[in-house]
Parts: sequence; C-alpha cells; structure tokens
Amino acid sequence: MKRILSGVQPTGILHLGNYFGAIQQHIQLQEEARDPAAAFYFIANYHALTTIKDATALRSLTRDVALDYLALGLDPAKASFFRQSDVPEVTECTWLLMCCTGLGLLERAHSYKDKMARGIKPSMGLFSYPVLMASDILIYRSNVVPVGRDQQQHVEMAQDMAAAFNAAFDTDTFVRPEWRFGASERVPGTDGEKMSKSYHNTIPIFLPEGMTDKQAWKTYFARIVTDSKGVDDPKDPNDSLMQIYRLLDKAEATEFREIYVRGGVGYGELKKRIHAAYIRRFGPLRDKRVALAEDANYVDDVLEEGARRARTIAREVLDHARAATGLS
Ligand code: TRP
Repeated sequence: MKRILSGVQPTGILHLGNYFGAIQQHIQLQEEARDPAAAFYFIANYHALTTIKDATALRSLTRDVALDYLALGLDPAKASFFRQSDVPEVTECTWLLMCCTGLGLLERAHSYKDKMARGIKPSMGLFSYPVLMASDILIYRSNVVPVGRDQQQHVEMAQDMAAAFNAAFDTDTFVRPEWRFGASERVPGTDGEKMSKSYHNTIPIFLPEGMTDKQAWKTYFARIVTDSKGVDDPKDPNDSLMQIYRLLDKAEATEFREIYVRGGVGYGELKKRIHAAYIRRFGPLRDKRVALAEDANYVDDVLEEGARRARTIAREVLDHARAATGLS
C-alpha cells in the first residue's frame, strides 16, 4: 500500500487557487486509494499558530476548512481526515528531526525567506515550520504528498530530514516521501497574479456567509483585471480570464475560444460566463455544505475517527524512532 498524505492550513477562507492547486487533486486521489488507511488528509492547525493568535478564529477556521473539504467530496469512508493537533506525537517527532536538521537547510526555505522579505518578524515556530511539516509526512510513513508547487521545497526538505535521521541513528524508521503536483499550472487571481491570500486577489470556493451571487459578481468577477481591448479586438486565448474559464468549464471554454480569438466578444461577456460557470460548479455543493453544517456533531465525529486511525500509526512510528535514538 502506498500512503498518500497532505495537509491544509486553516488560515483563511479557501479559494479557487487552493481548490484547483490542491484540493481537487486530494479528492481525486482518495478515489485511487479507496482505503482510509491509504489516504490521510489533515487540517494543519499547529502550523496555523505561526500566524493566528486568536482561539475563536482558529476554531472557526478549522471547522470551515473541514466543512469545505467534506462538501467538496472528501469521503471519510475512503480517506482519514483529522486535525493535526489530535495527533500530538507529531510534535515530539519534530524534536527528533530538529536534532538532525542543519540551520542552513531551514535558512534556505523559500517560504521563510518570502515572509522575512515581507517584513514578518519570525518566531521559532515560523523558522521551524518545515520540520513540523516533515514530521507530519514522515510520522505516517507517507509515500506520496500531493501539494501545490509552492510546497515542493518543503517536501524535499522532508526527504533530506528522513535521510539524515536514518543515517544518524543507523535505522530505517522513516520512508522517503515524493511530492506530486496537480494538473493545473497556476490559478490567476483577480489581478492576474497567482491567486493567493497574501495578494488579496482571491475568489472563495464558497461565498462568505450572507453574500449573494449578485454581490459576489461585483466583489470578485466584475473586478477581474483585463487590458483595454474593445469588443471587436482579437483577444489572447491564454489570458487570465480564459485560464479561469477553462478551469471552471473546460468544454465551454474550448467552444468559446474561437470567437474570443477572432474578436466580436468583450471581456464583460466572458466575465459573466465565468461567473455562471462558477455557480454551476460550486452552487450545488453550497447546499451540501449547509446541510453538513446543520448536523452539529458530524464534523467532530469525522475528525475524531480520522485522528484515531492516524494516531495508531503515528504512535508506532514514533516508538520506532524513540528506540532508534536511545530515548526508550
Ligand atoms: N505547508 C502546507 C501548506 O501551507 C500545509 C502542510 C502542513 C502540509 N503539513 C503538511 C502539506 C504536510 C503536505 C504535507 O500548504
């Protein structure tokens, strides 16, 4: 059995970049595995503490991410879904890995360097983020880690840490994990840059509570930045609008391409089509999400059951690691 594992941070409303960059692939992979011991997905709430210092916010974001995944098709019969913090063994394992990890490796992390460049004052938690992530991966002996491109380096660091630990203690405790990317290259945000929470250019998968489709049109879709070509001008079939359209409805976008390239249709028309495709794609799932949220215990039950399965394996691998080090 090959174990697939990935985590998602509960640090904001999940957006189309998260969906097409990672979540869609997570849900497809559960179909491949069809065994809850083979597909592990968790909500990385320990990681979220590097940025969120508000208990109410963290609790509600965690629940939102869980509901989003379940509404988008995560099936607890096919995958184990849990909160990272319900397997506290992962923090002990982080320490064991830290003792085999050079400072230089962590100093080279892009995500850390990016945050420093944006003026964020680093905590030890932020600096050690990749070690906790490596622990997440290695403690379940994960083989495949489906992630967005921005996480490739972190998975490579986990490979390095697994090898360093195994070599240092002459053991085979940890298994080398491999990253795997989803199909979509890049999801453009409303400003044409990569869609990302930190760029404030996101379109959420599920609208914030109380927002109507009409408001969503004004807030997100009508605002997508374009150049100033007129209706009759020929347009670029690979511009941001077309990229988003293809992600939402490939067949319709392919049909539309011809008139777009020829000229005769304006950006406004395409934005309306994109908005309609978005509603077609995610509208029915909204209803499902509302229904799931109404059952007060459902989410907790799913997460607890997932944690129980995950924790059994984590305990076993951690015991192996402790024995290798001489701690036990
Ligand atoms: N760092 C990942 C992200 O921000 C989340 C994450 C935490 C993760 N632990 C992980 C992803 C382990 C894959 C495997 O997207």
